[in-house]
Amino acid sequence: MNIDYNLLMDKAKDASKHSYSPFSKFVVGAAVLASSGNIYQGCNVENSSFGLSICAERCAIFKAISEGEQKILAVAIYSPNTDSCYPCGACRQVMNEFESKDEEIDVITEKLGQLEIKKLSYFLPCGFKI
Ligand code: THU
Repeated sequence: MNIDYNLLMDKAKDASKHSYSPFSKFVVGAAVLASSGNIYQGCNVENSSFGLSICAERCAIFKAISEGEQKILAVAIYSPNTDSCYPCGACRQVMNEFESKDEEIDVITEKLGQLEIKKLSYFLPCGFKI
C-alpha cells in the first residue's frame, strides 16, 4: 500500500490535542494505519492511579483492533514536548503482535520538523511472538 506518511503524522498531531496528561504533562498523539486503509487516532490517557495510564500508541492500536482490524501497517507518534518521541517498550511489543507477515510496520516520528521512518524491527529486534 502507498502510505501517506505526512497525513499520518498530521493525524497524530491532531490526536495529541486530546491528550489527558495532568500528571506527567507529557502530551502524546498517535495515528495507526490498518491494513484496511482506515486510520485510527489515539492519545495518552493518564489516571490518578498512575499505573492505569495508557500510551497514545496503544490507545490507537486498541481502537483499531476493537473495531475489527487485524493487521497494522504504520504508526505515527508525536509529542510537542520533545524533539522526537519514540515508542516505549510496551508499545513496541504491542505493535509486534499486530504486524502482518508480509509487511513490516513503519514507525513514523518527527525529529526537528523532519519525518523519520523506520521499520518496527529497528526498535524491537527479535520481537517475541507465539
Ligand atoms: N507516553 C506515550 O503516550 N507514548 C510513548 O511512547 C511514551 C510515553 C505517555 C505515557 C505517559 O502518559 C506520558 O507519556 C509520560 O510517560
